[in-house]
Amino acid sequence: MTATTISSAPTTHQGILDFVAEVAEMTQPDAIHWCTGSDEEWELLTAALESTGTFTRLDPKIKPNSFYAASDPIDVARVEDRTYICSVDEKDCGPTNNWMDPGQMKDLMRGLYAGCMKGRTMYVIPFVMGHLEAEKPMFGIELTDSAYVTASMRVMARMGTHVLERMTELDAEFVPAIHSVGMPLEPGQADVAWPCNDTKYIVQFPEERAIWSYGSGYGGNALLGKKCYALRIASVMARDEGWLAEHMLILKLTSPQNVVKYVAAAFPSACGKTNLAMLQPTIPGWKVETLGDDIAWMRIGDDGRLWAVNPEYGFFGVAPGTNEHTNPNAMTTINKGNSVFTNVALTEDGDVWWEGLENPPAKATSWKGEPWTPDSDELSSHPNSRYCTPITQCDILAPEYDDPRGVPIDAILFGGRRKTTVPLVFEARDWTHGTFLGATLSSETTAAAVGAVGVVRRDPMAMLPFIGYHAGDYFNHWINVGKDNDASKLPKIFYVNWFRRDDEGGFLWPGFGENSRVLKWVVERIDGQAAAVETPIGHVPTTDALDTDGLDISDEQLAAALHVDADEWRAEIPQIQEWFEKFGAHLPAVLWTELDGLKARLDG
Ligand code: GDP
Ligand code: PGA
Ligand code: MN
Repeated sequence: MTATTISSAPTTHQGILDFVAEVAEMTQPDAIHWCTGSDEEWELLTAALESTGTFTRLDPKIKPNSFYAASDPIDVARVEDRTYICSVDEKDCGPTNNWMDPGQMKDLMRGLYAGCMKGRTMYVIPFVMGHLEAEKPMFGIELTDSAYVTASMRVMARMGTHVLERMTELDAEFVPAIHSVGMPLEPGQADVAWPCNDTKYIVQFPEERAIWSYGSGYGGNALLGKKCYALRIASVMARDEGWLAEHMLILKLTSPQNVVKYVAAAFPSACGKTNLAMLQPTIPGWKVETLGDDIAWMRIGDDGRLWAVNPEYGFFGVAPGTNEHTNPNAMTTINKGNSVFTNVALTEDGDVWWEGLENPPAKATSWKGEPWTPDSDELSSHPNSRYCTPITQCDILAPEYDDPRGVPIDAILFGGRRKTTVPLVFEARDWTHGTFLGATLSSETTAAAVGAVGVVRRDPMAMLPFIGYHAGDYFNHWINVGKDNDASKLPKIFYVNWFRRDDEGGFLWPGFGENSRVLKWVVERIDGQAAAVETPIGHVPTTDALDTDGLDISDEQLAAALHVDADEWRAEIPQIQEWFEKFGAHLPAVLWTELDGLKARLDG
């Protein structure tokens, strides 16, 4: 079976054929399916997923061609403690990643992979991150034994026959990516709705540009084009080739005077990227269009500016909290259908529901498969439940999305979730100071990764779980981008915090569409029009520089949102110091200088 399927393969690309043959030999699937990306194939996949109980079709009148899925409760998020950067040399992995010798890891994983696809089909997914028409298209082949992953990859990445044909024509290099849920089936053994394994490994081999994933079906662990390729592997490529692979949304902001600015923003997982990317401004005359909600690949263009593209093709958004008020553009996108909803609640009329959505159903089935009512003590949906939906369905997709050159970025925002300390917005003094702000970014942990929620940790550039090499070297790469280029053409760097709380625990800032007021201040700063006060941490808006027309916020509340408390910031210093010490000689000396400067200004 295996040999014939390979001889009838729809490509003559020897590298791909060898990769498929080698993995099939190791994992022993019953069949091999070369993905075309066609509608017929989607029908086949979704029908198969319905037959195993993985997918429940939603009412086509409500959400056409859309499906509900519930995972095994042990497989709901990224597993950072099971994620490895297996560089040849341990020192290239750095103190923020898990490491194992690549040979040792491969031996271990070959043991897990041996026969692991028995009773299943191996799907061959040819995909490209970014545009097929890019100067150098960024190809990958994901081999997976999961139809759920295959269907999701069709939403999240450009894939299928046209990609394979181009790879064959170019005899192109590609990132080989292996994925297995780690649950072979004996002859006659019935499948479960969500196959996975207690043992999980999410492994990147940076020198080989290869990805091996085992045991999980969750997006961030299994859709290997996304976090594994477009961030971990791409960050290594970017270091070697002088560009940036970042955990950033990209948006286009048009002022009432029709001035266009492009903004990229890095926030840790479940800290507001998808929402900001699709923001509906509350200030009259301003318009936001979206280019991407999670990943930006950025290069210096011939004009000296930093140009960004979104390598993805879909949104993989946090469902809870998404509604007509917070994110109307996401709602319109998912209501068009062609979407997969995982770990939300299923209603009796064949729709989905989650915490924060309008009109709670009287009865539903929770993500755990249990009866749920609004009086239930348990949540209907997992806090990291997700919608997976095509970006091309988004009404506010910027036309530049289709341009392989991308867009020139005017501002970069770093941000996280902090109940205290960090003001709503402030501006870095220059690129190096901005790199310092990124390198010391802190945020409370969220349900997007397995582990405790709400714990403050340093999450540099929102890339802590995604830097494919030594984080100290990564900071140095950022510093070098500033040094090697004309600083006046680089984006200005800002820091934001939508999540500061008052004494009662309420949010000081209303967030969501109101964040357009912050974006307005940002672009006015770039154009030298908006007022700011210089504080020890950077330039903070004066209370009247921020447009609060029509906003129901008291002067005290606004002042509290913008307040820079020297004592709170002094308390950060030892934490930053301890953080920087981790990186030893790899930490760029200028970042120590920045820390000294901050200390001096706080004490001055
Ligand atoms: P991403 O994972 O970084 O893309 O984050 P999302 O945009 O999906 O948001 C994660 C969670 O944060 C969701 O529950 C949102 O409703 C919530 N969120 C996003 N933006 C804001 C905001 O401006 N204010 C508040 N309070 N919550 C927000
Ligand atoms: P996000 O990504 O939370 O940054 O959108 C998904 C993930 O962490 O797997
Ligand atoms: Mn997101």
